[in-house]
Amino acid sequence: MISRLLLLTYLGCVAGLHGTPPASLSGRGVVAARGQPQRLRSRPVVAKAGISKLRSKLVGVGSCAPPTRVTNVDLEDLVDTTDEWIAQRTGIRSRHLLAPGETMSELGSKAAERALEMAGVAAEDVDLVIFATSSADDLFGDAANVAKLVGATNAVAFDLTAACSGFLFGINTASQFLHNGAYKTALVIGGDALSRWVDWNDRSTCVLFGDGAGAVVLKAAATDDEAGILGWEMHSNGAGRKDLNLCYSGEPRELGDVATVTSGTYDTIAMNGMDVYKFATTKVPKVLKEALAQADMTADDIDWVVMHQANIRIMETVAKKLGVSMDKVIHNLDEYGNTSAGSIPLALDEAVRSGKIKKGDTLAIAGFGAGLSWGACVIRWGGEPL
Ligand code: ACO
Repeated sequence: MISRLLLLTYLGCVAGLHGTPPASLSGRGVVAARGQPQRLRSRPVVAKAGISKLRSKLVGVGSCAPPTRVTNVDLEDLVDTTDEWIAQRTGIRSRHLLAPGETMSELGSKAAERALEMAGVAAEDVDLVIFATSSADDLFGDAANVAKLVGATNAVAFDLTAACSGFLFGINTASQFLHNGAYKTALVIGGDALSRWVDWNDRSTCVLFGDGAGAVVLKAAATDDEAGILGWEMHSNGAGRKDLNLCYSGEPRELGDVATVTSGTYDTIAMNGMDVYKFATTKVPKVLKEALAQADMTADDIDWVVMHQANIRIMETVAKKLGVSMDKVIHNLDEYGNTSAGSIPLALDEAVRSGKIKKGDTLAIAGFGAGLSWGACVIRWGGEPL
């Protein structure tokens, strides 16, 4: 069977309120499965635990949240809810929302600039920009605009849509290009503004989401580099779309006698919370264990877990199933809510800037969400101390 290594040769602003202030749009510190069948299961055989499977290392992180902050108490005036219900069921206490005139591209580019600054990388040295988002300003994609805004004039840029798994999928995708030698430096940005797409009359969804973006700089790593991607795994299962979706809902429009097309916009977010909750608490521990197994590691080897920030109860259950103390789980959803593709890098940025995560630490990162989609990677952080 062809090994994954061989296959690859053919593929060709937070530190948040808990630490350093994150970047804001205003520039001030604000708050700122797929089914398994055709899978090539064999992985490059590496005898020693914790050796990078992908020669790609994360060396800088940044984030940005919009200045407008809305608390649970504020939402009590909008829908039939209480601060107590939201905090107890989700762990969320506030969220940051894009105001009219503020854009996803701006959020993404501010986060990217902060990540480049931390990494000490010049924008013109970036070869690849991936913007993971499901709420772009432009349905044709925001990545090229973000590359322009940050000055990544030599990079190819494209969007990646995988909802709350998008950032994790982006890291794993960019790392393939770095591992196979096609590119040397990549910028992966995750961000969403789901405030644009929630039904603000639906208390079961509108209290959950916030807007924000985060970014990481990845560099090609040497074979003997200590930092890198030690293990990774991704899945999706379209059968779960019924449980979480944001579907096109155009109306028929007749073009004279010639044809009838559909014209219009998208619906609002529809979610079966209970089923998504069960999906997350089942699949996330499993995929983390899969990524750890590829790294020849166990949960005992993890310094930090950085999960998609959807619900503190999901994080507690995942930590329990992994056998990891909540002290090792990075979370800031109390401040930002569920920022979809932005949530992992927002939390990562805060933890790095506050000094929690240090160079050489082993991180287990997991994303999950609409698709349904889910994935994980185990990395050794490669950023220099600030
Ligand atoms: N305030 C007060 N009451 C509420 C609210 C609210 N905001 N929302 C729902 N309720 C009520 C319900 O109507 C229900 O009332 P009833 O018992 O009288 O019928 C009761 O609270 C319980 O509702 P549940 O939906 O069963 O509440 P649950 O404890 O399951 O929590 C939640 C709901 C928070 C959504 C949870 O299911 C969850 O976190 N699910 C996972 C969401 C997720 O992880 N999404 C990630 C992906 S996001 C993406 O990819 C874009």
